Amino acid sequence: MDSILVTGNGPLNGQIPIAGAKNACLTLMPATLLSEEPLTLTNAPRLSDIKTMTLLLQSLGAEVSSLQDGQVLAMSSHDLISHTADYEIVRKMRASNLVLGPMLARLGQAVVSLPGGCAIGARPMDLHIEALEALGAEIELKDGYLHAQAPSGLKGAVHEMRFASVGATENMVMAATLAKGTTVLKNAAREPEIVDLVECLRKMGAQIEGEGTSTIEIQGVDRLHGATHQVVTDRIELGTYMLAPAICGGEVELLGGRLSLVGAFVEKLNAAGIDVEETDKGLKVARKNGRVTAVDVTTEPFPGFPTDLQAQMMALMCTAEGTSVLEERIFENRFMHAPELMRMGAQIDVHGGTATVTGVEGLKGAPVMATDLRASVSLILAGLAAEGETVVSRVYHLDRGYEHVVRKLEGVGAKIERIKSDG
Ligand code: UD1
Repeated sequence: MDSILVTGNGPLNGQIPIAGAKNACLTLMPATLLSEEPLTLTNAPRLSDIKTMTLLLQSLGAEVSSLQDGQVLAMSSHDLISHTADYEIVRKMRASNLVLGPMLARLGQAVVSLPGGCAIGARPMDLHIEALEALGAEIELKDGYLHAQAPSGLKGAVHEMRFASVGATENMVMAATLAKGTTVLKNAAREPEIVDLVECLRKMGAQIEGEGTSTIEIQGVDRLHGATHQVVTDRIELGTYMLAPAICGGEVELLGGRLSLVGAFVEKLNAAGIDVEETDKGLKVARKNGRVTAVDVTTEPFPGFPTDLQAQMMALMCTAEGTSVLEERIFENRFMHAPELMRMGAQIDVHGGTATVTGVEGLKGAPVMATDLRASVSLILAGLAAEGETVVSRVYHLDRGYEHVVRKLEGVGAKIERIKSDG
């Protein structure tokens, strides 16, 4: 298993290009299942999760070609050969469950393995099931698989979700595009990835209104057609790299970044003493003064502070002046980076969903282990700011969500290298 060696090397300066959003691309790809005509995505990120979704779609009979070094995905679901999403693929990536809604809508049936728990929490599927049942689907659990059917097609309905789940919103919106009549989804998630999905579905001929608000209305149509769509900028990759100059000092411009994608996060950065400015190419982030100030953070659904930036923000708070309280409200077990950061000299006290971080003047390099995707990059950020060498092992987590991380950080002056291992 490869590892990454980071050596603290002072301020960072320059530009970092931000890729298309992993979480948007992983919901746009299953949208191909809704139409017999081709769907092409541009600005796709080059990530192992995208390869996993490619394999899943191919196993269902879709054609998926990766063009222009992986940045363009040309897909066609003209002839589907299977309606079963196998456990061997689904267990690797929870987003695999996003084929459920589209398959059910297009084929009237779908069998999708339950993803099982993952490192950050139990992550059940009940909200997805309730949403699709509201559209008339009959769903039963057999041998670890959800067996879903809609023999006489899906029918529009009014449904209010108990929690604004991103995945359940995506599954229901996709399914409702081909349902008979009107669907009104209340307490829908408002994440930018949902707005991006709806924009793509609309190009395919879907009739949808209200994306980005908590009520989405979908007028079912008989069929969807082909389209080309550019994947929205990855707000989590953006926020992660915004933290690089925040934690190391210097000034870095994030190409393609927009304030509207990271509003709540920028408010916290500003409060900590970091300057953020929108430019014509993206966002410029600078830390010109000394240590940052501790700020409290609570993760919430969009437009609140994203759970996917909590680990990285904790790395920054480890070196802040004062004490910060980080409250994780989306996932029950998402502080696994804390003990690893403590190996680097951080002072963190975790109680349930709350972590109290007392900033220290400096972190010290250490061998640490990545436990999940966002945890792995928080350790890299901490390593950039630490004195000496940090080796982050199990970087396959990182490959799921960050393309060319070494190249991007080297480009702004970081000392970072990937250590290949044959094992
Ligand atoms: C979540 C994040 C999303 C992030 C993604 C990947 C939120 C609101 N969502 O999306 O921004 O990009 O993880 O890390 O921050 N839940 C249920 N039943 C369900 C579905 C979800 O109880 O059927 C619970 C989950 O266990 C979790 C919460 O709802 O506690 C949020 O889930 P959801 O928004 O669905 O998660 P993702 O779509 O994975």
